[in-house]
Amino acid sequence: MRRRIVAGNWKMNGDLAFVNQFALDLKSQLAKPEGVDVVIAPPAPYIVPLVSALDSSDIGAAGQNLAAQSNGAFTGEMSAEMLADIGCDYVIVGHSERRTLFGETDEVVVAKVAKALDASLQAIVCVGETLEERESGNAESVVKSQVDAVLNVFDVEQLANVIIAYEPVWAIGTGKTASPAQAQAMHEAIRGVVRSKDESLAENMTILYGGSVNAANAEELFINADIDGGLIGGASLKVPDFVEICEALGRSLKG
Ligand code: PGA
Repeated sequence: MRRRIVAGNWKMNGDLAFVNQFALDLKSQLAKPEGVDVVIAPPAPYIVPLVSALDSSDIGAAGQNLAAQSNGAFTGEMSAEMLADIGCDYVIVGHSERRTLFGETDEVVVAKVAKALDASLQAIVCVGETLEERESGNAESVVKSQVDAVLNVFDVEQLANVIIAYEPVWAIGTGKTASPAQAQAMHEAIRGVVRSKDESLAENMTILYGGSVNAANAEELFINADIDGGLIGGASLKVPDFVEICEALGRSLKG
């Protein structure tokens, strides 16, 4: 069954006081809609405090990144096993900030996905085109090749634990979201690529949209057939906005 997910990506924001207040507020304000999974990816030092502050509230935790290696002399890195060990169920892989600021290629992304799957983490794999690629008419081919890089390496059983997040780079943190039609068209194209690998994998695969999703525009994105939720940056730092986004996904399932 295709899962519907709202995942908050805090990026490098927050402190311990914020974590505790966020958890308190989220627990009191969020009535998790049926059929919606809610996940938060805080900065690594705050994963344990967040998991503990959320205690049994059925909200998942995610890493924002992981190493492409298992363990050993890799100063500053953090393995998939460690993330799983401290209570993560998910990890974000290949976010555009990792790809552009830290030079992560499709090969690195694939190596990280492999480690995540080995550790029984669900990998939220980010793909997306730059503004230049969109304006030159290459958006779909760029995104398809990023998706293919992952599809080509793993089998259908492994890919059942992969979630795709389509995040056009020009929409991330810019306040400029893709229109619902643009987003749906790309999600349909991504599902088409997955379908050419396996029909039921495509039906069941969760494809999230990310890039300036907020409380006001979430629902018009989520009502589209191939948009199964969101990866939320800025708006995931504000509990009322994040709650509204979760509720919007819940309403879109009923509508
Ligand atoms: P944004 O970030 O919602 O702040 O645009 C999304 C993301 O980078 O995952």
